[in-house]
Amino acid sequence: MRVYRGHLLHIGGAPRSDDVQAALVNVPDGALAVDGSGTIAYSGEYRGLPEAAAAAEVIDCRPGFLLPGFVDTHLHFPQTHCVDSHGGGQLLDWLERCIFPAESMLVDDEYARGVARDFCNRRASVGTTTALVFGSAFPHAQDALYEESIRSGLRTISGRGIQTVGPAAAGPLLTDDETAVALTRNEIERWHGRDGGLTQVAVVPRFALSVTEATLRALGELYDAVRADGVYFHTHLSENLGEIDAVRARYGVQHYLDTYDGRCAGGGVSLLGRRSVFAHAVHCSDHELSRLAETGSSIAHCPTSQLFLGSGTMPWRRTTDSGVTVALGTDVSAGDEWLIPRVLNDCFKVHISETGGQSLSIPPADLLFTATLAGARALDIEDRIGNLDAGKEADFVIVDPGRQALLPQLLARIDPADADRVLFTLLMNMREEALDGVYVRGRRVTGSG
Ligand code: GUN
Ligand code: ZN
Repeated sequence: MRVYRGHLLHIGGAPRSDDVQAALVNVPDGALAVDGSGTIAYSGEYRGLPEAAAAAEVIDCRPGFLLPGFVDTHLHFPQTHCVDSHGGGQLLDWLERCIFPAESMLVDDEYARGVARDFCNRRASVGTTTALVFGSAFPHAQDALYEESIRSGLRTISGRGIQTVGPAAAGPLLTDDETAVALTRNEIERWHGRDGGLTQVAVVPRFALSVTEATLRALGELYDAVRADGVYFHTHLSENLGEIDAVRARYGVQHYLDTYDGRCAGGGVSLLGRRSVFAHAVHCSDHELSRLAETGSSIAHCPTSQLFLGSGTMPWRRTTDSGVTVALGTDVSAGDEWLIPRVLNDCFKVHISETGGQSLSIPPADLLFTATLAGARALDIEDRIGNLDAGKEADFVIVDPGRQALLPQLLARIDPADADRVLFTLLMNMREEALDGVYVRGRRVTGSG
């Protein structure tokens, strides 16, 4: 047993998304007791530590903060080296000019392994304990990703990016349908549930324009067969207006989501469900939002990326009011920022700037929720991670304000009992250097060397 003493901040319990503020837990002199299996045995006031923890080693993190590990529900492993990409246009230009060629470079095994190391190191540095990771087309690169993730001690859900059609620049990333299904099935067999469940696999068609109706039908059948094993589904949805026009023209659908919902002309099995996460959903119709909500599917909201590619803004109120779970994604590399609190910073600014009477000053508790517990909910592992409640697996970060210029001065002006102010200051201002420890299931995440 180990006890971490510090200022606890998290969203306790399992609140509905419209009732998060009442669930904000703020314990200025708090303790987190972690048992030998990496489970939180106690969480609360330091002076309330139970007898069983009295003899435990105490790691004094004061004046530091203990927060749940950050959950990034959408980022691209093969784009680790691409956060500087000037595409000369929006999504489709950027993909063709910059991203397809860059992702093709992972055909080289040694290069792919280096990218996997860099990717896991960045995640460890920014406290992203759990991530839903859009994978490489190349199985050897995916192997490298899982191996490095396990070595680092990170919690990773991923799947190879499936593409069966595309422009010439995407050539090296394409396979036929049969190969696409076989490679994904093989990835599931080899990696799903590994490392005591820290490693999980998803079925990941890049987006409707990177596959055909036949591919989606085949993936529907595959997903139907593995859904019960807890395999995930992940893709992009309704990010960019040019993309949406192209999807409508290609598939003859009114709603982009229909392509994933077994509603193309040829029919098929729906890919929606409790473990299905759709990145962006910026321009969704009411029908699409209600289908996402009624099937228990979730949205990975990526405001930094939406700014970078000029995609528009996911309407916060309309989307959350629909009942769909909205979690946060960096979308590295269209999102040019790895640190989840920096993405929250953009999230706050983007939604207070919404027009048409939709401007919203998102409360600090909702920001934290989106980056932690909502992520766990979107990934269907809310019973295990997402906050610091006793009984959960101990995924947490230690924030030491003394490591960051000016942060101690900002915090010194705030009453520690003023949860909203303390939390807003931390989430809007903290930078990576303030992180002083990242833990998954009670084990320190090391980076992969
Ligand atoms: N849509 C299809 N592929 C991508 C990608 O790599 N990034 C983003 N942001 N959107 C996509
Ligand atoms: Zn993306």
